Amino acid sequence: MTNCVRADRWKGCKSQPVGRGQFAVMVVAVAILHSAVVPAQTPARGSSPQAPARGAGAPASGRGGGAPAAPKVEANLVQLMRGIVYPSSNVIFAAQDDLAKYPPARDPATSPNLLTSTYGGWQAVESAALALAESANLILLPGRLCSNGKPVPVRRADWIKYADGLRNAGMAAYKAAQSKNQDAMVDASGTVADACSACHDVYREKRGGPQDRCLP
Ligand code: HEC
Repeated sequence: MTNCVRADRWKGCKSQPVGRGQFAVMVVAVAILHSAVVPAQTPARGSSPQAPARGAGAPASGRGGGAPAAPKVEANLVQLMRGIVYPSSNVIFAAQDDLAKYPPARDPATSPNLLTSTYGGWQAVESAALALAESANLILLPGRLCSNGKPVPVRRADWIKYADGLRNAGMAAYKAAQSKNQDAMVDASGTVADACSACHDVYREKRGGPQDRCLP
């Protein structure tokens, strides 16, 4: 029996939370619905965003009939986490429970809740899983800063490994979502939570405080 990844207030899970201390307690979909949430991969103290570096990107290659546009970085790392990674993972975690709890909104076309929108239900879970997998690419773009102004260490082998872990976890969640199977989502949620904390343990939770984030 797999353990359920959940926050304390999670009602629908069939089994116990993963026994990994605070890290086991994960964010849940209620965040999206505006209730309180908690946990593990949430906000930590002392991270006020700074303006990100601009214009950093891959050099143009000139092959293939024209230089590709260089990607531009617009958010710092904590903004990227809050804007894409965190909400996407909440949708994945929500699918450990019965999605019937999230019927289509009265006006699905304007619903701010992915699960109750026009592209809601299992399709929203697939989308969130792919968003998470794609966010690995964003995490690896050169030129991004952390909230403390330090560069995101995109050339470090372990950083690349953790980003790939997030990509693989996202793809595992995508497969699980395609199967529309709640138990498969419990497994995939565990994989996702592990991918988050593997990186956070090294690069986010720093003894010396937020000014040491993003340092090895
Ligand atoms: C490759 C490393 C890495 C991975 C993978 C990763 N994170 Fe992060 N995360 C960080 C770092 C570093 C910070 C601190 C960033 C900063 O201060 O600029 C952070 C910050 C955050 C924050 C903001 C905390 C605050 O201070 O407000 C949230 C929320 C978050 N991560 C959620 C997640 C979730 C959920 C996952 C997994 C689905 C995840 N992260 C995966 C490295 C990672």
